[in-house]
Amino acid sequence: MNEYRLPNAKQARFRNKTYQAPIIYDAVKLTDSQKKLGVNLNYHVITYGCQANVRDGEVISGILEQMGYTFSDALSKADIIILNTCAIRENAEKRVLGVIGSLQSYKRKKPEMVVGICGCMPQQEQMAQNIVAKYPIVELMFGTHNISSLPTLLENVLTTRKRNIEVFSALGSIYEDLPSVRQFRHKAFVNIMDGCDKFCSYCIVPYTRGQQRSRRWEDILKEVKRLKEEGYQEITLLGQNVNAYGKDLDQGCTFADLLEKVSDTGIRRIRFTTSHPWDFDDRMIDIIAQRDNIMPFIHLPLQSGNDEILKLMNRRYTSKQYKELFDRIKEKIKDVAISTDIIVGFPNETEEQFSDTLKMVEYCQYDNAYSFVFSAREGTPAARIEDSVSLEEKKRRLQRLNERLGYYSKLNNKKWEGQVVEVLVDGFSKTNPEIMSGYTPQQKLVNFSYDNAQIGAIIYVKITQGMKNSLNGVQVHPGKENHEQY
Ligand code: SAH
Ligand code: SF4
Ligand code: F3S
Repeated sequence: MNEYRLPNAKQARFRNKTYQAPIIYDAVKLTDSQKKLGVNLNYHVITYGCQANVRDGEVISGILEQMGYTFSDALSKADIIILNTCAIRENAEKRVLGVIGSLQSYKRKKPEMVVGICGCMPQQEQMAQNIVAKYPIVELMFGTHNISSLPTLLENVLTTRKRNIEVFSALGSIYEDLPSVRQFRHKAFVNIMDGCDKFCSYCIVPYTRGQQRSRRWEDILKEVKRLKEEGYQEITLLGQNVNAYGKDLDQGCTFADLLEKVSDTGIRRIRFTTSHPWDFDDRMIDIIAQRDNIMPFIHLPLQSGNDEILKLMNRRYTSKQYKELFDRIKEKIKDVAISTDIIVGFPNETEEQFSDTLKMVEYCQYDNAYSFVFSAREGTPAARIEDSVSLEEKKRRLQRLNERLGYYSKLNNKKWEGQVVEVLVDGFSKTNPEIMSGYTPQQKLVNFSYDNAQIGAIIYVKITQGMKNSLNGVQVHPGKENHEQY
């Protein structure tokens, strides 16, 4: 195993407060031979996990296309398949390991096919060793810190047919000017930072993504302006903790300042995710409230409604502070929608502690929510706590929670019935070409019948029905004089 470079759990935990991440411009420079490697060959990338991974998947596609590869929808036609993985919960990992297993039959039929794995799973020491030992089909492995090594690693695999495994644990760098093939032509993800230093006790992300490092605001703005010139209508600013943006730089630009600058570009729609309740300051709320092109939708992860559990989770806010922040956001931002993430069954969570989470759900009446059963992640502090609650009990709690979450998302969606909303059109329904879909400013999914709508346009839809997870509607064409009111 010596020729392989594998991550190190101790290094992954390490942080240096005075670290200034190096910025690497033009990180991917292909040699002439690398530019030809993929000509007449097909690639397929499967991305799991969060938006940060989706953005990385776009970069991986961009690199492969620069190498001459062509995208193929069919796995059977692919000459290289890359699994861009997530490690947030055990079931996410199990799914990927299952897929690697199922690729064996393709590999048998086409032995020259390359199977690669990257993303957060191989960033964990044990997992990386496990994949190397048990899945010989994987010939290419890299991590979140060295996506830009892909051309070199892949060239080595193809020319020597030896496994190329290079994953390292690092504080991290900032890569600019990476090639990418974006998923859409009308909405785009823009990374504003990578890594996380919050170390919530259950979470693997700080170990798989490195120290928090923000991009310079000038570079972010350049990307947004270019997207706007290319016709993009919507951008989503991405970071594990966008409100902590800039705290690792001495450029005097907070997230509120960045929002202002991005709003000034005049791009039609701005979103951001994720905003940790900690460090969510009033100036941020004011700017979101004042600017028409910043969408009234906030993802505000709660995780738990109980103060003891929140403390054990190392979330650094109390249920009271969360409620106060929630109230300020609701009060100041007109028609704001709020979504959340909740974990049930943190080790030894009692029925009473769980009921505090339910109470918080009754209070906040979220528009939308993602709920999870706690999953022990090796190397995190929470995984070392001996747990007295059974998985069956945790699943029962999840069901009870989901029933309440579903009730409120439907209630909130019903409020839109009869109203006319702006929708950015994403595309056609998979099952019915007479139906298109898109999102409202509040990030509500709308399926609507249309008479004159194009993908990428912002149009008006009258809502006819609010359901648990989406709205139904009909395209309308209100007179110009009425536009103001919508
Ligand atoms: N940075 C974001 C969260 C990213 S992970 C934030 O702090 O809000 C997305 C969600 O996955 C988390 O909000 C949490 O609810 C859930 N999650 C993270 N680790 C988990 C674990 N070990 N078990 C279950 N759910 C987890
Ligand atoms: Fe994980 Fe907490 Fe960082 Fe979010 S803030 S990525 S939950 S450690
Ligand atoms: Fe998963 Fe990594 Fe994102 S663990 S949630 S893909 S940062």
